[in-house]
Amino acid sequence: MRQFSFTAVSHSPEETAELAERLGAAAEYGTVLCLVGDLGAGKTLFTQGFARGLGVEGEVTSPTFALMNQYRGRLPVTHFDLYRLEREEELDEIGFHEYAEPSGGVVLIEWADKFPEALPEPRVWLMIERGEEDNERRLAFFTTEEDSALWRALTGK
Ligand SMILES: Nc1ncnc2c1ncn2[C@@H]1O[C@H](COP(=O)(O)OP(=O)(O)O)[C@@H](O)[C@H]1O
Ligand SMILES: [Mg+2]
Repeated sequence: MRQFSFTAVSHSPEETAELAERLGAAAEYGTVLCLVGDLGAGKTLFTQGFARGLGVEGEVTSPTFALMNQYRGRLPVTHFDLYRLEREEELDEIGFHEYAEPSGGVVLIEWADKFPEALPEPRVWLMIERGEEDNERRLAFFTTEEDSALWRALTGK
């Protein structure tokens, strides 16, 4: 299947949040965003901006310990962090497959690359890498579904 990609470079947390907010504003039912990157890369910060763009009011926190948080914006938002999970079976225990059902709204999954077989489709991957400067991040997006509002907002096409 053809993969489409788009790369953006951010120079500050604000710039990342702004991009995320713009994409969140375009997100539709069924959007699944899989976030990959080291600790401190910016996955949670990106999610916070994305949620704001979706109209979520109030604080969006890292679900590292909670594993999952749900919010209500223009659409329901489910935010996972799989960092602490060790085995794929644990996904069943936390109800991952029920809660990550894309038709229920928007799903964001930090550390999604830990269990690539278990992820809902279609999905957009976001790999965040540190750049040379302290606050520099390279945001690489990938999808097989070019025809979505989110992808159009991202690429401007
Ligand atoms: N360009 C940038 N984009 C995103 N975060 C940045 C950037 N520059 C610095 N940061 C900082 O990196 C940290 C990212 O933290 P966080 O989003 O919790 O990471 P993760 O969820 O990937 O572990 C924050 O402290 C943020 O201020
Ligand atoms: Mg995080």
